[in-house]
Amino acid sequence: MTERGSPGRLGRTLISRDEIAVRVADLGRAIRRDYARRSPLLVSVLKGAVVFSADLFRAVGLPAALDFIGVSSYGAGARPSGVVRLTADLSVSIEGQDVIIVEDIIDTGRTITYLQRNLATRHPRSVALCVLLDKVARREVEVAVDYVGFAIPDEFVVGYGLDYRGYHRNLPDIVVLEPAPTS
Ligand code: PRP
Repeated sequence: MTERGSPGRLGRTLISRDEIAVRVADLGRAIRRDYARRSPLLVSVLKGAVVFSADLFRAVGLPAALDFIGVSSYGAGARPSGVVRLTADLSVSIEGQDVIIVEDIIDTGRTITYLQRNLATRHPRSVALCVLLDKVARREVEVAVDYVGFAIPDEFVVGYGLDYRGYHRNLPDIVVLEPAPTS
């Protein structure tokens, strides 16, 4: 196995598992209300949104479906490389479907913009966006978000699906990663 490097140092909890659970239930209710008598397809963006989308999918409660798409923007470190690429594609056609993209975090907005453009070419009936964390201060391209869990400050966070070098996705809380000491 390739060496992933240090997992970094965990700092304070920014959003606890209890706060997450309450907010995910709210988002589920809002989507259930907005999509009443429809069967939306939740598109979970690998890998960060996996934990959130599993909880949201159950909270929505409609006869919804779930599929996955892989997009990667970050390199191995804590800063985006600026390059967005598709790493895994959907397993179903979305033509004529009410799609809800489920993302863990929007930072610069480049990943989601790439994904929205990509999905639009497949002729869905509608595309909405549900994001757990919105790091508004770092936005480089404008993004219209339909459902937001939490607006967060410009700190590097891990847990509840979010990683640093592949670590910490399985933390139940959202935790700040301590900045690396400068030498
Ligand atoms: C993260 C996150 C978003 C994107 C946000 O994904 O899940 O997809 O970065 O950044 P942006 O708004 O600046 O584009 P990452 O590439 O780290 O992959 P992962 O979901 O597999 O962790």
